[in-house]
Amino acid sequence: MTFDRTLKIAPSILSADFANFGLEIQAIEDQGCDWVHVDVMDGHFVPNLTFGPPLCAAIRPHIKTVMDVHLMISPVDQYIEAYAAAGADYITAHVEAGAHTHRTMQAIRATGAKAGVALNPATPAGEIEYLLDMIDMVCVMTVNPGFGGQKFIHSQIEKVRQLRAMIGDRPIHIEIDGGVTPETAPLVVAAGADVLVAGSAVFKGGSVANPAPYGENIRAIRVAAAQ
Ligand code: DX5
Ligand code: ZN
Repeated sequence: MTFDRTLKIAPSILSADFANFGLEIQAIEDQGCDWVHVDVMDGHFVPNLTFGPPLCAAIRPHIKTVMDVHLMISPVDQYIEAYAAAGADYITAHVEAGAHTHRTMQAIRATGAKAGVALNPATPAGEIEYLLDMIDMVCVMTVNPGFGGQKFIHSQIEKVRQLRAMIGDRPIHIEIDGGVTPETAPLVVAAGADVLVAGSAVFKGGSVANPAPYGENIRAIRVAAAQ
């Protein structure tokens, strides 16, 4: 994977039909998404439970693009190898998940996966200042993690601007996660984001049997973001 800052749309399969992951992934990729975002929740760091490593391994063969695994779990370090072995291209962990984010980023890169660090809405940009030379992505949470379909938190736009300035020429993506719609996408892209996660805004109105709305939804975000 070569680094570039062209806009990427990463649908979150948290909003997919859980009985049909293989076909849902095929549908969103056929409809033009760039990455596939997998939200891992532990019922402890966040008040919800989702996917373990075996589920990730099972869906991996269906992903032709990029598997972007977002770990909302604490502790996190002891699960990194299992998610890497399941085929994650990017593994993102939260700075709030433990006291040793530096070690966590080293552990992710040691598996060969790209390392992402996520910031909750209350966490300042400066938290990652000493991680900049060991990460491939920073994920700005624009909702409190745990659920899809929440309202975008506008105060995070300024954080994106600060991160973009801190990153400079380094090959680090800025990913936005939560409440991304055609209305909010242009705000974060103007501030410096290049990867947009979107769950409800991509999956709404469509299904495996009727995937065209997925494509329309992805295009609507892309077109809005380009303005
Ligand atoms: C929130 C997750 C997000 C979420 C996005 O905890 O990390 O990826 O599913 O969903 P929407 O786009 O519906 O806000
Ligand atoms: Zn996520």
